[in-house]
Amino acid sequence: MKKNKKIALITGASRGIGKKIAQELSNNNIIVIGTSTNREGVKKINNMLNKKGYGIILNLNNFCEISQCIKIIYATFKKIDILINSAAIKIDKLFINMSLKEWNTVLKINLTAIFYITQLVVKKMIKKKYGRIITIGSIIGNIGNIGQINYSASKSGIIGFNKTLALEVASKGITANIISPGFIQSGMTKTISKKKKKEFLLKIPVKKFGSKKHISSIILFLISKESSYITGQNIHINGGMYMN
Ligand SMILES: NC(=O)c1ccc[n+]([C@@H]2O[C@H](COP(=O)([O-])OP(=O)(O)OC[C@H]3O[C@@H](n4cnc5c(N)ncnc54)[C@H](OP(=O)(O)O)[C@@H]3O)[C@@H](O)[C@H]2O)c1
Repeated sequence: MKKNKKIALITGASRGIGKKIAQELSNNNIIVIGTSTNREGVKKINNMLNKKGYGIILNLNNFCEISQCIKIIYATFKKIDILINSAAIKIDKLFINMSLKEWNTVLKINLTAIFYITQLVVKKMIKKKYGRIITIGSIIGNIGNIGQINYSASKSGIIGFNKTLALEVASKGITANIISPGFIQSGMTKTISKKKKKEFLLKIPVKKFGSKKHISSIILFLISKESSYITGQNIHINGGMYMN
């Protein structure tokens, strides 16, 4: 392994937006460690990265597994320069029907696990005086969405988390930003009904869903030298559907 190469950890790299980010970073000479909750996903990541990066099992529902995974990465690669928190889940139900378990599960994976994994990585980044942390948020964290009270709360939660994190690590050479996609063609949006999709398109000024490339291009910029003065931001990529 070349010492000067940057190392990026990307959660949820087996498919969707995380996969695209992994491909782009790998194409840009970065060693990517991508996570999946299962062996099949790890195999897909390894095939995609073709020895220029590696897949590793990680279930964000299990905090011991998070610690173990981070330990293995540091033992093998010695550092993580870039952390991309992309993995997230949704369990959609109307507020009045949502169980405490469904609320807790989504908050645990989409918010608390991000606190936990980021803390483990940031402690080491502080020592190196360098780091880039990017968390994938969602437009739903700003505007809400019927049937997604747990998901929207988790995505709003990371906004406050990211602002405080950015303030606390700004002087250590570490930036922390959120990319908040609107509707992007991917696994998560596949399950939306045709009727709902039509309704959403009416609300998107550019009149189409976004692509994964729209997200990965901004990630490439946020990890570049040129972006070192950008931190604590929530960058929206949504075709004009929501404006800050
Ligand atoms: N797609 C959109 O339009 C859209 C819009 C706004 C925001 N976002 C955000 O963008 C990010 C990626 O979304 P996506 O649509 O690309 O998702 P996706 O296609 O559903 O992929 C989800 C990824 O997360 C991983 N994952 C699922 N549960 C996990 C767990 N318990 N622990 C660790 N990893 C887990 C999956 O890994 P395995 O299945 O391999 O285990 C998979 O790699 C998410 O943060 C999402 O909220 C997406």
